[in-house]
Amino acid sequence: MYRTRKLLITGISGFIGSCFAHLPQEHWQIIGTYQQNPVQHPNLISKRVDLSQLENLDPLLNASKPDALIHLAAASNPNFCEKNPELSERVNIQTAVELAALCDKYSIPFLFASTDLVFAGDNAPYDEQAEPRAVNLYGRQKAIAEEKILSLNSRACIARCPVMFGLPKWGNSFMKSWMTNLKEGRPVFAFTDEFRTKVSGSDAAQGMLLLLEQQVKGIWHLGGKESISRFDFAVKMAETFGLPGALVQASKQADVKMAAARPANVSLNSEKAFQLGYQPKRISEALRSWL
Ligand SMILES: NC(=O)c1ccc[n+]([C@@H]2O[C@H](COP(=O)([O-])OP(=O)(O)OC[C@H]3O[C@@H](n4cnc5c(N)ncnc54)[C@H](OP(=O)(O)O)[C@@H]3O)[C@@H](O)[C@H]2O)c1
Repeated sequence: MYRTRKLLITGISGFIGSCFAHLPQEHWQIIGTYQQNPVQHPNLISKRVDLSQLENLDPLLNASKPDALIHLAAASNPNFCEKNPELSERVNIQTAVELAALCDKYSIPFLFASTDLVFAGDNAPYDEQAEPRAVNLYGRQKAIAEEKILSLNSRACIARCPVMFGLPKWGNSFMKSWMTNLKEGRPVFAFTDEFRTKVSGSDAAQGMLLLLEQQVKGIWHLGGKESISRFDFAVKMAETFGLPGALVQASKQADVKMAAARPANVSLNSEKAFQLGYQPKRISEALRSWL
């Protein structure tokens, strides 16, 4: 029971990686990979690996000999993917598919972090049976990776995550930069017409561990319990932390020109995971936990 099993987490230096590193848990010894941003934490062993070089993947598994693998590493910014299609396809599709195939070969349980952005946003809430129809390249890459992974590794688990919030020790967090803006007297422009079932990163990380420990396969949604607009989230966040709410300014998706199209409402129906025992905190409760 005491860290007897080795969990390999790719992309430990990202936002969700930080959430895993800081999760109080006794069961897994974490080995995490990073590429450009080294991380150090007493809960984990970290190693630098460029996962886009597919020849690095088999040696990584052979050296680490993990009991399970959570594949987080990705080009996760939709605008970056749109502007760098080949580079992003390599890590978002080819790396993910190759890792899934190797895990199948070595019988290592494999969990792939996917996204609510596989959906078009015009027919929420989406359950696991809904047809993916992404409006941007990032979402399409994740949907292609999901399909290929499931076709070659029938035991693989796909965790579709919503936008996550939190104050991680490392990695990018929209909430962290919004809070910095408000603290420093700068406005935060937040869409009133974009809805997601947001969860805290640590709740989503716990959800992924649950899926792994329950040895489930196929597609699982790890959304939160409420669908909320970015604007309402920003207002709630300002209220909770006593920051100036007047600086939260309503805007619309159409006001901001971005390389990647954004769906309006990709809220997830996560009832299947709730039934399994996934119990993310409601947004106000999660925000208060950082006070
Ligand atoms: N955050 C969210 O709200 C959200 C929502 C839905 C789904 N997801 C999915 O969840 C996963 C984790 O998200 P995140 O927010 O933690 O992402 P993130 O903060 O952007 O971190 C990405 C991670 O991938 C690593 N990486 C990227 N390219 C790599 C390469 N070629 N070789 C090795 N490592 C590479 C990065 O390493 P370095 O930084 O060291 O270079 C970093 O650790 C992603 O698959 C993402 O698509 C995230």
